[in-house]
Amino acid sequence: MITIIGAGRVGSEAAYNILEDRIGDVLLIDLQADIARGEALDMMQAAPAIEFDGKIRGSGDFKEMEGSELVIVMAGQARKPDMTRIDLMNNNAKTVSSIVKEVAKYAPDCKLMIVTNPVDIMTYIARKESGLPKNHVFGMGNILDTMRFRSYIAQELGVSREDTHAMVIGEHGDSMVPLAEYACVSGIPVTNLLSKDQIDKIIHQTITSGADVIKLKGATTYAPAAVIALTADAIIKDRKRVMSVSTCPSGEYGCSDYSIGVPAVLGKNGVERILELKLSAESQQRFAKSLDAVKQAITQLKS
Ligand code: LAC
Repeated sequence: MITIIGAGRVGSEAAYNILEDRIGDVLLIDLQADIARGEALDMMQAAPAIEFDGKIRGSGDFKEMEGSELVIVMAGQARKPDMTRIDLMNNNAKTVSSIVKEVAKYAPDCKLMIVTNPVDIMTYIARKESGLPKNHVFGMGNILDTMRFRSYIAQELGVSREDTHAMVIGEHGDSMVPLAEYACVSGIPVTNLLSKDQIDKIIHQTITSGADVIKLKGATTYAPAAVIALTADAIIKDRKRVMSVSTCPSGEYGCSDYSIGVPAVLGKNGVERILELKLSAESQQRFAKSLDAVKQAITQLKS
């Protein structure tokens, strides 16, 4: 069973994607229990049309998450236009901290995925406050950035999005690091296909992409929801997918103790391995700045 805590638009859309993709049964939890129940009921009524026989239910009671394999936390305030993810930090830290204690109590063996922003900071808090094993707690941020990076590469080249592959590491925020040196189209490095100016433009588009959507419609929905389902699939089906998640390295990338986006192998044991890549001098410098941004935010939070 997959428990989703927070039945707002992203939570509900993610639940529906998980059902549509037949990844597993879903429990939606929200303090506004009727919203969670209503969303679940609506999805249950759609299920014959998508030929889905799995279970979907809504609740306001944390106890019901007992036995969950994966718990996804997206409760908290969402980012408004002109707000950075860091602005959200203080309020959401309290919310995440109290929720993950409930998770540790009722589903101590689960893998815990944090989506609440600022995700790297919330993942750090989730690990500290839940006491769950380090590889069982991770944050979803850079996978979304990676999908955006891939979309813009495909658009620039006029090729299939399916054939684009890329990786974004670092903070899920303004200091993220899209790795141009590892981006490719069907194995062809994008550095062979695009000029430096084009690559710089795509990197800029990737960094502002979430804010661009928020400016237009107030929130992002489909992209985060789709990526949550993709990540749930990697964990539940033990796919060993290689994706960049916010996790706490043990010295890799010059980082320990903090949580930041790095490439990892995802399977039934959560973050099963961190892949340490050789970065270009530029990416290395940007990653160091990104790590500093995360460290500063945590220092700010502690004070
Ligand atoms: C985004 C929000 C979820 O990037 O951070 O869409």
